[in-house]
Amino acid sequence: MLDGCVMTKKIFVYPVVACAMLIYVYLKVTSRLSNSPIIIPYNNEKIPTKIQAKLAKKDIDYILHLKNVINDANRKQSTEDDEMDWDFSFIIVIQVYRGINNLNHLVDGLKQAKGIGTALLLFSHSFYSKDINRVVRNISFARVLQIYYPYSVQLHPFVFPGYDQKTCDEVMSCRKSDRKALVIQHKHHWWWSASFVFDRVFATRNYNGTILFLEENQYVTSDFIYIFRILDGLLRSSNLHCDIISLGNGKSKSSSYRLINSSILLKPWDTRETLGIAFNKDTWKTVKNLSEHFCRYNDNRWSKSLIHLSTKTSLGKFYALSIEGSRVFRLNKCKDHKTCNETKNNEILLNFVRKIRKKLFPFKMHIVKSNSVEEVGEGNGGWTDVRDHELCLFISNLRNVTP
Ligand SMILES: *[C@@H]1O[C@H](CO)[C@@H](O)[C@H](O)[C@H]1NC(C)=O
Ligand SMILES: *[C@@H]1O[C@H](CO)[C@@H](O)[C@H](O)[C@H]1NC(C)=O
Ligand SMILES: *[C@@H]1O[C@H](CO)[C@@H](O)[C@H](O)[C@H]1NC(C)=O
Ligand SMILES: *[C@@H]1O[C@H](CO)[C@@H](O)[C@H](O)[C@H]1NC(C)=O
Ligand SMILES: *[C@@H]1O[C@H](CO)[C@@H](O)[C@H](O)[C@H]1NC(C)=O
Repeated sequence: MLDGCVMTKKIFVYPVVACAMLIYVYLKVTSRLSNSPIIIPYNNEKIPTKIQAKLAKKDIDYILHLKNVINDANRKQSTEDDEMDWDFSFIIVIQVYRGINNLNHLVDGLKQAKGIGTALLLFSHSFYSKDINRVVRNISFARVLQIYYPYSVQLHPFVFPGYDQKTCDEVMSCRKSDRKALVIQHKHHWWWSASFVFDRVFATRNYNGTILFLEENQYVTSDFIYIFRILDGLLRSSNLHCDIISLGNGKSKSSSYRLINSSILLKPWDTRETLGIAFNKDTWKTVKNLSEHFCRYNDNRWSKSLIHLSTKTSLGKFYALSIEGSRVFRLNKCKDHKTCNETKNNEILLNFVRKIRKKLFPFKMHIVKSNSVEEVGEGNGGWTDVRDHELCLFISNLRNVTP
């Protein structure tokens, strides 16, 4: 009797529990889906075909909503805003995708930098996220503006410039291929940011100084603005020919940091010096005039494409001013995420920056000139789709907002 009773209870209870769990999981998943953006790959380039077919109506609605938000934000930055008092002495553009941990590190670094209070930080996003906006909008140590790349994979998940699984040649004959949309997006995004900042953001339109470019996966020393200002002073001085500043060379060796007699290098710009680059409108005009070469060069890295332009200028090269000890570093230097620990790598970098602390803010420096030119040669590929060439050219040809 007792057994039977327990038995019936069990039979009755299990399906109810199972059913409740299923409903719970279903609600959980659907509620997550409705708040969170469409599913797009992060580290992994491949999208399962199943997901592709299932771009739900709410995802499409979300994309349309984002497009409006983004257009409004960009329009606001390109039209005059009288209420703002645009008092800043220099501009830092920061390219952001989705690396929120790295971004937090970078913001910490910026906060500690001497002189940051007079900067305008212009965050250029290729992914719209409330979490990232929260980090950016929480910044109170400098002025902040946000702009959003409008041709992103987030907004075009399964059509060009996102993943449409095609590559097209000059005559628009397309074949099936896994075009790496996220990698490719990075070059477009940089080009769009530079065009937008130099030509279209209201706050920067009358600014004719040097603009510094950083990315979310970079970190800065507390004296990076101090060094930037020294190099910028040299760039402006009429007796040195120089087009670009670079604050990082990818090396971290503590013997490169000295309070006296540290070296400033002036030489043709090369691929080792692509961290923390800065240039002004004059250089931008030269670069923009060479858009065809930037946009058609078969390399999906903006830095290599920009260096390639060196060979197309009348002087045959861009000259760069840099400092022997890097002031901008790359965070998360992991090639293989399985064997490499990002947290640990970042700790190593932060420790290194702590170690050189006493050797920052050098007060005696000398300039070393050199003419050694690195062979630029062919691009490394990944940029063959004619639609990418055209999008890139379209971006730099966008009209200024004001005449
Ligand atoms: C916002 O900034 C404050 C101090 O500036 C910091 O303590 C806090 O953790 C920040 N919050 C977020 C969400 O980043
Ligand atoms: C920047 O513009 C101001 C006024 O428009 C001008 O006086 C100044 O010389 C310019 N500076 C440079 C470096 O072109
Ligand atoms: C300064 O550095 C240069 C090379 O970077 C070296 O040749 C020179 O001897 C140094 N001078 C002093 C005073 O240390
Ligand atoms: C732009 O490029 C053309 C040649 O393509 C050249 O004649 C002109 O001087 C360039 N203008 C600038 C501002 O560099
Ligand atoms: C990565 O490194 C951090 C700090 O060194 C450590 O706490 C963590 O356990 C490591 N993670 C893995 C997966 O090894």
